[in-house]
Amino acid sequence: MSAGQKNKTKNLSVTEEAPSIIQNLFFSISSFSVTTSHSHKSIMNLPFPAIFIIFIISIPSSIAGAGVDAISRLIETQDRERTPPSVQEAAARGVLLRLLPSLSSSFHFRIISKKQCDGEYCFVIKNLPSFATQKDPQILIEGTTGVDIVSGLHWYLKHWCGSHISWDKTGGSQLFSVPNAGFLPRVHSGGVSVQRPIPWSYYQNAVTSSYSFAWWDWERWEKEIDWMALQGVNLPLAFTGQEAIWQKVFQEKFNMSTSDLDDFFGGPAFLAWSRMGNLHGWGGPLPQSWFDNQLILQKKILARMYELGMTPVLPAFSGNVPAALKYIFPSAKITRLGNWFSVKNDLKWCCTYLLDATDSLFIEIGKAFIEKQLQEYGRTSHIYNCDTFDENTPPIDDPEYISSLGAAIFKGMQSGDDDAVWLMQGWLFSYDPFWRPPQMKALLHSVPVGKLVVLDLFAEVKPIWVTSEQFYGVPYIWKVGVGMSMEGIEQNPIVYDLMSEMAFQHKKIDVKVKLENLLSEEDKNRDVIVAFPEVDPSLISEQHDQSHHYDIPSGIFIKETIDTFDRPHLWYSTSEVIYALELFITSGDELSRSKTYRYDLVDLTRQVLAKYANELFFKVIEAYKSHDVHGTTFLSQRFLDLVEDLDTLLACHDGFLLGPWLESAKKLAQNEEQERQFEWNARTQITMWFDNTKEEASLLRDYGNKYWSGLLHDYYGPRAAIYFKYLRESLEKGKDFKLIEWRREWIKLTNEWQKSRNIFPVESKGDALITSRWLFNKYLNFTNPETKLIQERFQRATNGKTSFLADANFSILNHNNIMASYGSSWADQWDNGPDPVSASNESKKKSNNNALGKTKAVASNGVKKLKEGTSVGLHWIKTKYHKTTQKH
Ligand SMILES: *[C@@H]1O[C@H](CO)[C@@H](O)[C@H](O)[C@H]1NC(C)=O
Ligand SMILES: *[C@@H]1O[C@H](CO)[C@@H](O)[C@H](O)[C@H]1NC(C)=O
Ligand SMILES: *[C@@H]1O[C@H](CO)[C@@H](O)[C@H](O)[C@H]1NC(C)=O
Ligand SMILES: *[C@@H]1O[C@H](CO)[C@@H](O)[C@H](O)[C@H]1NC(C)=O
Repeated sequence: MSAGQKNKTKNLSVTEEAPSIIQNLFFSISSFSVTTSHSHKSIMNLPFPAIFIIFIISIPSSIAGAGVDAISRLIETQDRERTPPSVQEAAARGVLLRLLPSLSSSFHFRIISKKQCDGEYCFVIKNLPSFATQKDPQILIEGTTGVDIVSGLHWYLKHWCGSHISWDKTGGSQLFSVPNAGFLPRVHSGGVSVQRPIPWSYYQNAVTSSYSFAWWDWERWEKEIDWMALQGVNLPLAFTGQEAIWQKVFQEKFNMSTSDLDDFFGGPAFLAWSRMGNLHGWGGPLPQSWFDNQLILQKKILARMYELGMTPVLPAFSGNVPAALKYIFPSAKITRLGNWFSVKNDLKWCCTYLLDATDSLFIEIGKAFIEKQLQEYGRTSHIYNCDTFDENTPPIDDPEYISSLGAAIFKGMQSGDDDAVWLMQGWLFSYDPFWRPPQMKALLHSVPVGKLVVLDLFAEVKPIWVTSEQFYGVPYIWKVGVGMSMEGIEQNPIVYDLMSEMAFQHKKIDVKVKLENLLSEEDKNRDVIVAFPEVDPSLISEQHDQSHHYDIPSGIFIKETIDTFDRPHLWYSTSEVIYALELFITSGDELSRSKTYRYDLVDLTRQVLAKYANELFFKVIEAYKSHDVHGTTFLSQRFLDLVEDLDTLLACHDGFLLGPWLESAKKLAQNEEQERQFEWNARTQITMWFDNTKEEASLLRDYGNKYWSGLLHDYYGPRAAIYFKYLRESLEKGKDFKLIEWRREWIKLTNEWQKSRNIFPVESKGDALITSRWLFNKYLNFTNPETKLIQERFQRATNGKTSFLADANFSILNHNNIMASYGSSWADQWDNGPDPVSASNESKKKSNNNALGKTKAVASNGVKKLKEGTSVGLHWIKTKYHKTTQKH
């Protein structure tokens, strides 16, 4: 089928594509937890609850109009100040050159005015009349900005040429199906014209800069900006290098020394959290070359964003100040924030200083920060992000006081930039009960209407616009834009593709909204392998309890956190995923040349085996509790084998390697000392943060865990081995489990690992399909006689008690059976741990569960479609990848 046949001018028929989207979701879900650092949401009182969220809310167009009106002045200013058309056209051409150099002369790009598009932002794709040679342009793409032109290019490549844009780590862009120059498909004679129903596509989250961008050089950034433009993103955060601005501001204007600032900034891998005032000094101090080089990088980033006609969002002053300010300005109103998960309350890392917004110094610093950015960057697009209250609940709830706080924050921005507009994350309204309607209204109205834009960040779960009379008239994203706000990137390409396309969709598309809902219930990476329980085995319940995984008695220290933090939940059926994997493997011979196929294959196998490992772990505990030394030994060895096998699997794809993360960190270093520091930062971010004692681990352990080859072999495996060693010892000696000793050894392992310098591969090795098939047969193929043998051995090892394998009954023939019995078991549907809000309010929780029920229904619907026959499933998998493996 020609992709072009599916397309319709303006009235885009997305529903036609619905089936494949539903099926797609099946695979997206399975890959959801890979590089996503785990959710903060479920940790009580965690100040920055930035979970991986991608979302949209469809707003009736009648309402959307009002939001856009409020920001019309800003939009006019931005349109007026946008880079000249020739520059934007050239920037768009640059994207094409990097993406498809062989077609660089096949497209003609042209900026058009909004007037030519009924006053909206848009792109238009047209055939160019006739052409004499293959060098002549065939397709004209017009757009109101450079980004719009590039989105038009993406639209054409996707819908007319069947190609797929993806990050390198998730398989890379699949452009094989794009014909050679001179043979591009024609669009229909009227051309294709697509308007943006809302002006903005927002992208990023305050922590993405550390989880994903921490070690990026310009080459990687350039690729990302190209990706953003292709996805239509025109409102990205631009937070890089802000430490350099702060350094200049505090040194030049507020009389601070370099050493005054040494303990203010975090290390290179922890900047997101020092910017938010969660910590200071940890991983630092930053070398001067870091400041300088990041500033150079930021200037390149901004320049490119402006060339493409984007609106980069700059940071603004939130009140977070260096300790030295207290001594330099003794009368300033400065409070010290509480401890954010450091172990010893060590003031060296914890408890940052916050300048009260009512202090006159607040406006002075706010102004100086904006002015310095203007001076360094040469221009601004007038939108500034500031999230003071995400970190800090105001001391008094008097609406008048709150109004004065909001006004001061804004005044700081405005006195640096007359046209400043404040962009605020609306998260605080959903998680902090302080923000009742009067307080919320006071804050939102403390700034003139049109000067504050709120991101309804948690909209997919708990949209605030609904309960706040639409933020009391204040414009908010998803009323003036759509967005993606995730902690980490480079996974689930399909999800990003879909979300980005929403910026150009006019109709409410149920399938997508549902898909979106589904994805918000992501797997939170609470797999035992990567987030090992640090409790006495006698406290771990191996019961098939629907709602509790670890049964922690009240009164012990970790109770609160464990309850919400360590309880994974799966809302999808494991057996379905196993089935999908079998279909996937079966299609492999034809498709394994596709990099995107291999990415999904590795990811899906990883997901299935990770769930298997969870069950295996609880089998170990069961054997331990029955004082079965042999069973404990056998099963824990099997767990460790599985960790090794998973490491081997992950090694088969570049997207799942530890090496690149560490090497990119070292690459930014200017000398040996920095190399050591940066590598330590990189290793620490993904394992355990903060000042653990010898016997007390930090709560921020496995906070940014990763399924990366190298990490399993070198860290997660050895850690589990230590635990099992103490289990066996306990049985053999007939003594209690030595919890303290295990902790001590594990913490020591962690700290040594963080300091070590061993090198990991930066390139994949091994064949993904062969490895995946081997593992499937080793662990999951119950029609395979060999697996059966293992099953029998299992039963012997567990003294004839039902084993995992017998429980599961994974046989494809019994597929529906499994769905029914397995779907409700503890392993499959781990409870949806209450988030801080719903936990405090039963009625909300219920509505949450309701939503969950709905999403499950949709999931099984989608799954059913896939299941309808193996042939349908196989066919779909083949078409999904086939176009990507075709030759020209
Ligand atoms: C800056 O600090 C130095 C040394 O701490 C002090 O002598 C000087 O007066 C300060 N200048 C201003 C403008 O505060
Ligand atoms: C599972 O085992 C059966 C029997 O040995 C075999 O025919 C089948 O190909 C295996 N499945 C996979 C995906 O390898
Ligand atoms: C697996 O399912 C089949 C068919 O439903 C059933 O006959 C068999 O007893 C099941 N095996 C186990 C171990 O539950
Ligand atoms: C819980 O939420 C419901 C409905 O949103 C509300 O009526 C009730 O007052 C809330 N209860 C508490 C304790 O916040």
